[in-house]
Amino acid sequence: MHGKAVHSSAKRRLRVADSVLDCIGQTPIVRLSRLFDSTESEVLAKLEFLNPGGSVKDRPARFIVEAGLATGAISRETHLVESSSGNFGIALAMVACVHGLQFTCVVDPHTCAANLQILRELGADTHIAHTPDENGGFLGARIARVKQLLHEFPNSYWINQYANELNAQAHAEGTAQEILDATDGDFEVFVAAVSTTGTVTGVARRLREVTPGIRVVAVDAVGSVIFGGTPGERRLPGMGASRVPELADPRLVDEVIYVDEASAIEACRSLARAEGIFAGASSGAVVEAVRRLVLSEPPQRVVTLLSDRGERYLDSVYSNAFEASPTREAGSTVTRSD
Ligand SMILES: Cc1ncc(COP(=O)(O)O)c(C=O)c1O
Repeated sequence: MHGKAVHSSAKRRLRVADSVLDCIGQTPIVRLSRLFDSTESEVLAKLEFLNPGGSVKDRPARFIVEAGLATGAISRETHLVESSSGNFGIALAMVACVHGLQFTCVVDPHTCAANLQILRELGADTHIAHTPDENGGFLGARIARVKQLLHEFPNSYWINQYANELNAQAHAEGTAQEILDATDGDFEVFVAAVSTTGTVTGVARRLREVTPGIRVVAVDAVGSVIFGGTPGERRLPGMGASRVPELADPRLVDEVIYVDEASAIEACRSLARAEGIFAGASSGAVVEAVRRLVLSEPPQRVVTLLSDRGERYLDSVYSNAFEASPTREAGSTVTRSD
């Protein structure tokens, strides 16, 4: 068995990529059989954290910029602007670098030092929106700063991931198609974490074209308002939003499972210990959501996404001090968005 695996991988021919962007997508799918008993439910996870920028957001970043270059909406002189404190900003910085475009990322004081440094090392300019908006958060403040920069920079272009239809299309043509190619659509439930909802919207649309009966489950953070949740404090990045994204389409989502911070953290740790997968907060949240689904009425085959790696969460998910630190008073909102 072992010899066969070695033999077949030795025969596989590695292709030479023209740039790191050609390495986006075609991520592997693994069976989480150490966490979930496969005799009851088979849980398949697509390892989106293996994208070169470290997350699922590499896909829309590349797709949006290259679509813009193809249509002429973006040219070599274009200055890209976006509000992001995490994965999408890093993905855009990578894409902008390869295409030789200027990119300014608007962040806020909650952006972790590691992400700021990665952005700058990849050649992005960063602007920090220091003053909270009227909701006490920074999302509105960052958007206001983006709009100001669009006036200041000649030839500027706002990617606007929350409203950009190409964000969802990247996942319909990429993520969803790869899932269909690998599984022939032979599964019952698709589970994905949500923030801009680009992933769930795009994947659900394409899956439903092939298997209309598929059940789509969105995993949101407690405190997020995307699907009508009560606003509240959210400390983990990558999931949830403090406003409803323009892309959100509740008709495509059969069920929303809300996962709290402590459960997401605990599930991240079990994923690491049981499967050897060191992943970010939203991966813990989807694992927790799948666990609840499997406990209530075991579906036969579930497909989910593990969206980013654990390293950017050493000061949060994987920090005992963070877990022990008190959250703010109920009702206050830490604005998180990617
Ligand atoms: C780690 C992680 N998981 C999940 C998501 C949700 O993806 P989407 O914005 O497509 O809803 C994001 C978005 O930034 C993310 O960074």
